[in-house]
Amino acid sequence: MIIVKAKDYEDMSRKAANLIAAQVIMKPDCVLGLATGSSPIGTYKRLIEGYENGDLDFSAVTSVNLDEYKGLSPENDQSYRYFMNHNLFNHINIDKTRTFVPDGLEPDSQKACDDYNAIIAASGGIDLQLLGLGHNGHIGFNEPDDCFAKETHCVDLTPRTIEANTRFFASETDVPRQAYTMGTKNIMQAKKIVVVVSGEDKAEILKEVISGPITPQVPASILQLHNDVTIVADEAALSKVEI
Ligand code: F6R
Repeated sequence: MIIVKAKDYEDMSRKAANLIAAQVIMKPDCVLGLATGSSPIGTYKRLIEGYENGDLDFSAVTSVNLDEYKGLSPENDQSYRYFMNHNLFNHINIDKTRTFVPDGLEPDSQKACDDYNAIIAASGGIDLQLLGLGHNGHIGFNEPDDCFAKETHCVDLTPRTIEANTRFFASETDVPRQAYTMGTKNIMQAKKIVVVVSGEDKAEILKEVISGPITPQVPASILQLHNDVTIVADEAALSKVEI
């Protein structure tokens, strides 16, 4: 694991965007695995700047997102498709028909997951996967469990994740209870992985992810086994890690 120490959220975002920019420049038709949440928003802003100032061309890029709430339409402002359109895709020259997010409106979970695995396979595989880190160590919506789930699957969200997401909805009852998410195997098959982590509230879990035992109880701990992971984290998030 390479650990890149950033001063703060802005610095983390710039450094992570540089890694993604390098990927897009070196392989213009690359497949980017993308994440939602607060952590990557600054990274996406820097990528938009890179496009606007003429350094980055996304016209040949394909993207596959980690996850989507089951039951939310792309027009719902809490759906991850909406998030991606508004925080990145609408502002760069990516071909939207090559941006993929699990189909939240597909009621048949098996079909939604099988279709998404087929999309990832047809893309030729993920060149660079961007990840955020949940407070309980989740990546995508792979929550702590007794085993690592492999491919795209439907998950019941934990009470802590539902609570953490309540801030985005009118009330807790509006928060979806299930989501479609890439599995650990889909993530681990990415050639490169970049994890963005910010804030003191992530310090304890980041320490476990980097130096704790590899266990499905801390899903991100499996990243220790990947041979090209870069964690870009700010000083607050790294405050419990010795580097
Ligand atoms: C988002 C995702 C989640 C988030 C994680 C951290 O697509 O899959 O695993 O990356 O919950 O969220 P933030 O960045 O909001 O702290």
